[in-house]
Order: sequence, then structure tokens, then C-alpha cells
Amino acid sequence: MPNLDDTKALLELDTDGMFDAAWSLAEQCTEAWGLSQQVALPEQSRPVSQIVVTGLGGSAIGGDLLRVFGGPLLPVPVLVNRDYTLPRYVGEDTLVFVVSYSGNTEETLSAYDEAKSKGATIVAITTGGKLGARAAADGFPVVQVPGGIAPRSATGYLFIPTLGVLERMGFLRGMQAEVEGLVAYLQELREKYGPANPTGANPAKDLAGKLYGRLPVIWGASGTTEVVAMRWKGQVNENAKTPAYWNVFPELNHNEVVGLEKAENILASTWFVFLHDPDDHPRVKMRMDITKRMMAKAAGCTDVEASGPNRLARLYSLIYLGDYTSLYLAALYGINPGPVKVIDFLKAELAKRP
Ligand code: PA5
Repeated sequence: MPNLDDTKALLELDTDGMFDAAWSLAEQCTEAWGLSQQVALPEQSRPVSQIVVTGLGGSAIGGDLLRVFGGPLLPVPVLVNRDYTLPRYVGEDTLVFVVSYSGNTEETLSAYDEAKSKGATIVAITTGGKLGARAAADGFPVVQVPGGIAPRSATGYLFIPTLGVLERMGFLRGMQAEVEGLVAYLQELREKYGPANPTGANPAKDLAGKLYGRLPVIWGASGTTEVVAMRWKGQVNENAKTPAYWNVFPELNHNEVVGLEKAENILASTWFVFLHDPDDHPRVKMRMDITKRMMAKAAGCTDVEASGPNRLARLYSLIYLGDYTSLYLAALYGINPGPVKVIDFLKAELAKRP
């Protein structure tokens, strides 16, 4: 098994600078907040009664972060749309964040066109591409974020601006302090999770060692860590190029656990990660505890607790651990975490079929 403390080898394998991007997430969030304060606000023809974030993959996860983080704060619902089309109810009373890091994702461009034709209030978040050009030509605000990293490494650029814009539009309050708390905490956490901190003292390296050669199953809780579970799965898939699954309590107690009853062979090579947040419902905490006892008879289990000075930092504390863990898992498999050839291939094939 490769030595995760051989920092030179680790970084040599990582030709796209995924470790560097993870390290500078704090600075990315600060910059993203600044961008959200400079962008022009959209003109609204009608008061906003719902928010839609439309995007795919690494550009959509910020929508789920907004949905979960904003759940207890926002007076209107947030829908995350990962499709070519939008729900019928989207109209002049809908604020649509159209998010595509490249600006060229065909589903997102299609959803943009539909949002425009329905008269929605639009804000684009992108490095440029066709989305940047179209939105600017149509007179919609564009949060233009820096390029050069993978979309999944750009959650700060793609998510934080939604908080800034929504605060300026009167939907949220206190976001600057929230982001500042997050930034300070990320700077602290990177010392713990970063490559220089050795195995044994580094929770991300240690967890990667447990997931190595096993099927990672990430279980979170509705309304708190659900987005984190989804993110961990995606990061393991894209960085370590290996399968992973996620689900949420309490729902998984009503189906998935039954499907594992007779799955000794699968469980023997599965590792469960239980994500915890202080805001988890007390009955969900009990459910997690009971379920873990059941799973631990046949599979490995790790509990991970959210930490940090505020809700945003708590959410990101878990995301950050998952990001680093997936990078170390890639290293253990001897895999370059950056390239996503399968996604590139699919996009190229689709582009040949206009
Ligand atoms: O991680 C990735 O590269 C993908 O999940 C992309 O984010 C996804 O394909 C959408 O592309 P974009 O973010 O450029 O809109």
C-alpha cells in the first residue's frame, strides 16, 4: 500500500493540483464572498416565492448545500434541479441560480434557456463558457468565478455566492460572519487533514486506510448531513474512481437496512461512515446508534462528528474531511484524483450528437 506520508509521491501523482485546491478552500470561500458582494442584483418582475438551483455534478452540490443550510433560515423553498428541464411551477416568481463551472454543460444550458423563456429571475454562476456569454448577452447578473480547478474543487466559488446574493436580496442575514467563521475554521482543519500531518494523527488519512479495498457506504441524516453523505459518495467516485453509496436516516431505517439483513458477504467488505451533527433529531441519533450496533456485527463502522463555530463551518467540517479522505483513498489506489475521463468521454460523445 502506498505511504500516505510520502508527500512528494502524493503530489506527483496529483497532476491537476487537487490537493492544492483542497488546501486553498478557505481563500476560495473568502474570494467567493467578495464576488457575491460585487455582482449586480437581478431585476425582479415579481416577488420571489421559490428558489431553484440548476446544475449538474460538482456544480449542483452547492445547490444542496444551500437547500440544507438554508432550510431553517430561508422563507421560501429551495429546489435543486439536475436536469435539462425545469418543473412547471418555475415562472416569474422564481429565482433561478444557473450554475455550471465550465459554462458548457448541456443540461444546464437547456435549463437556462427554459428559465429565461419562463421569465424567471436569473443569476448565473460560472467561469464563463456558453452560459457566461448567454447570460451576459441576455442582461442577467453573472458571478464570474476563476477557472483552472475541477468543478468539484470549486464548491466555495459555486455555493458561497448564493449566500451573498440571497442576503443582499433580503432572504438571509448574518452571512458574512458565518462565512468568516467558516474560513477561519477551514484554515484550522487543513493543518489536521492536509498531507503534512502524518498517518495516525490525520483523521482523513486514517479513514482512507479503512475504506481502502472496501465499499464505502456513507450514512447521514435528513436536514443536516444528507448533503455531506451525497458529497462524500461523489468525491469517492470522482477522486478515487471507486464505487460508494449514500443514504439518510430516518429513511434508510425503512428499507435499506432490511436489504442488508442477509448480505454477510457484501458487509464483510463494506465500511460504513456515520455522519453526525448536533442538530440531528434526537430520535435520529438513537436510530443511528441502534443501526450502528447492528452493522458493526458484520462490517466496519466509523463515526464522524461535525465540528466548528457555526452551522456553515459544521457542514463544511464534514465535507472537508470527505474531500481529503477521497484524495488519500485515490493515492492508496495509485490513482491520479483529478482526471474524470468517463465524464469527459460522455460529454464529447453527446457533443457529436447535437
Ligand atoms: O466533477 C465534475 O467534473 C462533474 O461532476 C461536473 O461538475 C459536471 O459534469 C458538470 O460540469 P460543470 O460543472 O462544468 O457544469
